[in-house]
Amino acid sequence: MPDFPLKLAELLDVKIEKLSFGGSGIARHAGVVIFVPFAAPGDHLQIKITQIKKRHAEAEIQKILSPGPDRSQPPCSVYGHCGGCNWQHLTYESQLRFKQEIVMDFLKKFISAESRVLPIVPSPQPLHYRHRSQLKFKDGKLGFFKKNSHEIVDIDRCWIVEESLSKQIPQMKKDLQQKNAALAEPLTIELTPPNGSDGFSQVNRFQNENLVTATITALTKNPLGSDATFYDLYAGSGNFTFPLIDKAGKSRVIGVEMHAGAAKMAQGRLRRMGLSPKAAEFYNSDVGLFLRRFPVKESDAVLLDPPRMGCSEEVIALLAKASPQSIVYISCDPAALARDLERLWRDSGEKYRLEQVQCFDMFPQTHHVETLVEIRREPNRN
Ligand SMILES: C[S@@+](CC[C@H](N)C(=O)[O-])C[C@H]1O[C@@H](n2cnc3c(N)ncnc32)[C@H](O)[C@@H]1O
Repeated sequence: MPDFPLKLAELLDVKIEKLSFGGSGIARHAGVVIFVPFAAPGDHLQIKITQIKKRHAEAEIQKILSPGPDRSQPPCSVYGHCGGCNWQHLTYESQLRFKQEIVMDFLKKFISAESRVLPIVPSPQPLHYRHRSQLKFKDGKLGFFKKNSHEIVDIDRCWIVEESLSKQIPQMKKDLQQKNAALAEPLTIELTPPNGSDGFSQVNRFQNENLVTATITALTKNPLGSDATFYDLYAGSGNFTFPLIDKAGKSRVIGVEMHAGAAKMAQGRLRRMGLSPKAAEFYNSDVGLFLRRFPVKESDAVLLDPPRMGCSEEVIALLAKASPQSIVYISCDPAALARDLERLWRDSGEKYRLEQVQCFDMFPQTHHVETLVEIRREPNRN
């Protein structure tokens, strides 16, 4: 790349303009965008170029010449080395502000004068919020991988897992070290509560309560007719389906989940709760396959909580064709959410509008954010 104006290992003085979607700071030099992990907006930094890509560069911080207004002291002693967190150097208040800004940037084209944009919901616990995590063990070290590497950063405690889990780490390490086996590959160690996991998929159980309440409120805002159905698509083991049963009135409740174990867990929970199998019907199926065989009706309401990559193009096309009266979409990737809304608007002929949007800070100390959008079919359009 003879014309690229930056060189590998070059030292530069830069000012951080803002944060990128991936959580790094953004600086510019000689017209090139430089991504700087662990940087804060307003930081004046000395950086070293570590990677040169086609259109941008990456760099690491050498020295903080003067800190930006949102920088704060990270509580964790391995922060910056460990790949677990990337926003501990930002005040919690600013993390919330930046997440809201990043999501709104993706969604602004769908927001109209009638849309309600609610403030982000902070996590009830900004630290010690994860009720499960996976650690790696090899060569006597127990911890998380360093970012983009298979090198284990050894830890004795962790600031984002629940305190009862963090306290297990030193003993767990001792026990593993005593086995003293030479390992070719790192072992994956599940850090879960002593009574095990209940198959529940959201990692932040404190914030999950807020998300479930907001989701059920949005989904049941307009009562459905007795011949209509609430669909919980990508249902997991029923995180939203069970709270929905109470609010569904005479409407049917259907959960669809591809993972056989999770679907079975939901069915088992229904039996254990002494509920009739008709209270909620769980189908173990791919959502696209299910919708092709059992189309949704215009009078129905649909909840979508897909994995990170969002819905398939087919699922959006089938929903656009069926045009249910409302769709509540929960997403942990605002880029995938914006892409799916774009497709829904296109495939339905602009039949839908964004009624409400709210972010939930499910993953404090990282750049990840959960977003709930409520979408309604335009009145008089079906
Ligand atoms: C983000 S999780 C949400 C789970 C659940 N709603 C909850 O809150 O616990 C996404 C779920 O979608 C399931 N899934 C992924 N792809 C799917 C597909 N094509 N069809 C059906 N389920 C799928 C995964 O197994 C996972 O349980």
